Amino acid sequence: MIDLQPGDKTHDETRQGEALIVDAPKAANGKKLYIESYGCQMNFADSEIVASILSDKGFETTGDYSEADVVFINTCSIRENAEQRVRNRLSQFGAVKRRNPNLIVGVLGCMAERLKSKFLDEEKLVDVVVGPDAYRELPQLLGEVESGQKAINVLLSREETYADISPVRLNGNGITAFISIMRGCDNMCSFCVVPFTRGRERSRDPFSIVAEAQDLFNRGYKEVTLLGQNVDSYKWRGMDGEEEIAVNFAGLLERVALISPELRIRFSTSHPKDITDEVLYTIAKYDNICNYIHLPVQSGNTRILELMNRTYTREWYMERVDAIRRIIPDCAISTDIIAGFCTETEEEHQDTLSMMDYVKYDYGFMFCYSERPGTLAARKLEDDIPEEVKKRRLSEILAKQQQGSHYRLQQFVGKTVKVLVEGVSKKSDLDYCGRNDQNAMVVFPKTADVKAGQYVDVYVDKCTSATLLGTIVNH
Ligand code: 5AD
Ligand code: SF4
Repeated sequence: MIDLQPGDKTHDETRQGEALIVDAPKAANGKKLYIESYGCQMNFADSEIVASILSDKGFETTGDYSEADVVFINTCSIRENAEQRVRNRLSQFGAVKRRNPNLIVGVLGCMAERLKSKFLDEEKLVDVVVGPDAYRELPQLLGEVESGQKAINVLLSREETYADISPVRLNGNGITAFISIMRGCDNMCSFCVVPFTRGRERSRDPFSIVAEAQDLFNRGYKEVTLLGQNVDSYKWRGMDGEEEIAVNFAGLLERVALISPELRIRFSTSHPKDITDEVLYTIAKYDNICNYIHLPVQSGNTRILELMNRTYTREWYMERVDAIRRIIPDCAISTDIIAGFCTETEEEHQDTLSMMDYVKYDYGFMFCYSERPGTLAARKLEDDIPEEVKKRRLSEILAKQQQGSHYRLQQFVGKTVKVLVEGVSKKSDLDYCGRNDQNAMVVFPKTADVKAGQYVDVYVDKCTSATLLGTIVNH
């Protein structure tokens, strides 16, 4: 997996372990909450829901777990190493708990859902285990723990979308935010644990999504990222006043885009089998819908794609890429790739590399295959590619991706790009950073009259391996 810049907007594990700071709660109860999040953007968005639910009950949030009354860890199960990281972190919390036996330790999210009560048996220090659809029960569950019991709720729901809960924006820059538009996943990719940990797919009503985006815009936010495991299968049917309406993803994108031309829209993740020309034309139609699509290929070989149950072929994927290039000529495309899936031959691995040559992805997130208990692949296929072969294939994929990223960044050199200023650059207080439409990070010297949250035109004069460098020419 490549390293991302903090705040990157694709499915990633690199922002794991961020502590979350919340505004003052409505009526303080004197208790402090610490939440740490691992895994995908959806998990970070969920932690904002959890913070909101507990803030309503008077919890103040702290960024220092040693002073917390409640420590939550919002977990990821996607690969074995993601789970291992969480277990290591839990043993550190164990040391704090030995000093402060009243400390409540909770496990939330995908690992809670996967392991259920086993967690309470395996990890003695854990007091409460809560799955992704049960966060409304958190205040009650904490009450049970305070009365001396262990507490668990891992029920999955077919309806819960937390539509009415206004997330508390955590550790944000006040300019970009996530909005969950759906939950769960109905695809059955054979390698993936998500359908088991996050349950059936359900779409949130479009009115609450637009209202949330509008509220963010009113508060000065300039970019929203619409989140779902498979945004292209967003589908909502219901009443709009007297009229029965159906809204698909293209329709939702349009509704959010119409809030203001000053509000940028991003989204993730798109599925190659479901992304429609209608969505592509909607992106092309609105300047404020960013020209960037995260379109995970997973493998470039049709036999492997079939074993993965991705339900598309190499040719189908290439046709979708051609359609993107035709309809949105300057669109950035990123991908996820799994190296060394069950029975993958060298030739089939070469097909993945040649797919990368074909698309020249702007960004890529690459992983060795990790067998997950309970998945279709774990039940039906042998995890037969030796670890060192997986690693070697992954390193070839990584090297190829570096070439692709560099090629794409170089296309911007000598051009002027529109950048949303996100804040001061990590490396120097004298520089600002922000992203262009295609999600490339751009760094440029600060000027006194430009503030974070503004759009500026930046002339790009060079690039490093992951960043464009330039100067403001217009704002
Ligand atoms: N092993 C390795 N990578 C996986 N992913 C999902 N499940 C696994 C697994 N069992 C990757 C896929 C997915 C991304 C979020 O994580 O590439 O798109
Ligand atoms: Fe997100 Fe999947 Fe990890 Fe769950 S298992 S946190 S859905 S990446």
